[in-house]
Amino acid sequence: MNKPSFLKDVLDGLNSNPKTLPAKYFYNEKGDQLFQQIMKLDSYYLSRAEAEVLSTYSKAIASKMQDSSWEIIELGAGDGSKTQTLLKVLLEQQSDVIYRPVDISAAVLDQLKKRLAKNLPQLPCDPIASDYFSLKLEPSSQQKRLFLFLGSNLGNYTQKGILAFFSLLNELLKKGDQLILGLDLIKDPNRILNAYNDKEKVTAEFNFNLLRRINEELGGNFDISLFQHWATYEPVLQEARSYLISKEERTYEIDKGKYTVHFNAWEAIHVETSKKYSARQLADLAKENGFEQTAEYQDKKGDFIDVVWAKL
Ligand code: AVJ
Repeated sequence: MNKPSFLKDVLDGLNSNPKTLPAKYFYNEKGDQLFQQIMKLDSYYLSRAEAEVLSTYSKAIASKMQDSSWEIIELGAGDGSKTQTLLKVLLEQQSDVIYRPVDISAAVLDQLKKRLAKNLPQLPCDPIASDYFSLKLEPSSQQKRLFLFLGSNLGNYTQKGILAFFSLLNELLKKGDQLILGLDLIKDPNRILNAYNDKEKVTAEFNFNLLRRINEELGGNFDISLFQHWATYEPVLQEARSYLISKEERTYEIDKGKYTVHFNAWEAIHVETSKKYSARQLADLAKENGFEQTAEYQDKKGDFIDVVWAKL
């Protein structure tokens, strides 16, 4: 992890009012582990629902990709578990495929590369450890590009972030390239809230890991036992949000006292937004951002959607 930018983002966020921290910093080795645990929770339906979508419709997706050889670039690949079925089907249909998983966590990419070498040894895999916004790609030659942004990762982005993300994509994609976007659908708010407020408290640990990282990597002295995890779902904005709330008034040090941050009693840090979409909103989002939505696939329960967008 690039320490100067982590430090800067932490100081900027904790000196803002209201306080905030970027969710991307959840993911170090411990954070990756906790997220993998979250994906197995009964209450966290998202990953299972998307796995169902991808295993049910991989053949349909791949059958529309027989016109070219493909470079598959997965943004925020994580451990890549949900993508493997799609990669397998593509490889069966199309000998000329290369897979480039991109993730901020080098540790998780290592795991992914090892697993793919075992399960799909014929697939060339070239991981890139990077923040998407610093992603540099060689101009592609004959290959078309398929970008994957799965797992409801776009849900973490604010309005401004979404605009920045699509303007980045518009630079990276050429006409005819494609994007598969996976997002959590709006549903009973009780189920959404439970997904971020599990009784096993794994999500709480996942959130506390941010403070732990500040302590370990940035010389912080946060007392994690004095923070409380708080999750909400706001149905008009369609946003689940997670906060870390300081139960007592305290001043904490960062960088061994070079910086200090003051918390009032019950002051909150906003640490994550997980936005939910309707199918209709996604078709509109495609149009607004220079894409045409060519297909949409949902799981049987209608919990999760994967849409295919073609760059216009
Ligand atoms: C990986 C960003 C999609 O927002 O649902 C899981 C992360 N946070 N539980 C999400 C997460 C709390 C997850 N994303």
